[in-house]
Amino acid sequence: MFGNPIAHSKSPEIHAAYAAQTGQALRYEKRLAPLDGFAAAVHAFIAEGGKGANVTVPFKLEAVKVANALTIRAQAAGAVNTLHFTEDGIIGDNTDGAGLVADIVVNAGVAITGQRVLLLGAGGAARGVVLPILEHRPAQLVIANRTVATAVALAEQFAALGGEGVVSGCGFADIEGGFDIVINATSASLGAEVPPVSPSVFAPGALAFDMMYSKSPTVFLQFAAQHGARLRDGLGMLVEQAAEAFSVWRGVRPVTGEVLQQLRDQL
Ligand code: ATR
Repeated sequence: MFGNPIAHSKSPEIHAAYAAQTGQALRYEKRLAPLDGFAAAVHAFIAEGGKGANVTVPFKLEAVKVANALTIRAQAAGAVNTLHFTEDGIIGDNTDGAGLVADIVVNAGVAITGQRVLLLGAGGAARGVVLPILEHRPAQLVIANRTVATAVALAEQFAALGGEGVVSGCGFADIEGGFDIVINATSASLGAEVPPVSPSVFAPGALAFDMMYSKSPTVFLQFAAQHGARLRDGLGMLVEQAAEAFSVWRGVRPVTGEVLQQLRDQL
């Protein structure tokens, strides 16, 4: 795992648990790459015999350039969080969106197919999940953002893929109707802020998802709880994107439940 900073990454613990569970011999460590030395750090790791790596902030865009080829989901995300070093070169992949979708559909047991989905934010985190969400054929995907033009541009990029009238972009104040799934992909929770959306965005029984996680619910999840939504934070997405990366490298997908509980207990 390459990042900067990297000290608090839970990924080594997660992958150690997956390796033990699947009987794979795997060594996974975190490496602090200098801000101007990401590519060199990756190539040094390959020279040491590295087989694959995760990439986190602030190198997910640079990892696109380091890769010789990108998977379709990495192209759609415009960012790489998983590198696979193969005989054919460096493959750049992105497992974040698959992690989000697995957590919603499998862990939370909430179908996306035929449902109305609201995605708050249009930055890197939001972009990374649009394709995997659309693969589940929602009835509607509204992308809302503080900077309206960014939401509209992101929606336009995926409009043809979503089907007639499914994907649209707007500002927070222009959101119409209620949604079955509301995903906070803004970084507002970091500053303890809630995106200024109407409580009516939560349809009865809606699932509210925040990509952030913390010991106590984020301010967005507190807001959602006040308006009757079911809550899900980003910890499940973290363990699922890791399971997906593990399966890219090793061809076997670990079971995530125990690891998720273990991390939850440590928060
Ligand atoms: P990330 O990789 O976490 O997505 P990013 O690409 O910088 O980071 O995107 C941050 C997202 O959070 C953007 O959608 C941003 O809105 P703008 O495009 O208008 O900047 C959104 N965001 C950040 N702080 C916010 C806040 N306080 N309220 C609402 N949205 C916020």
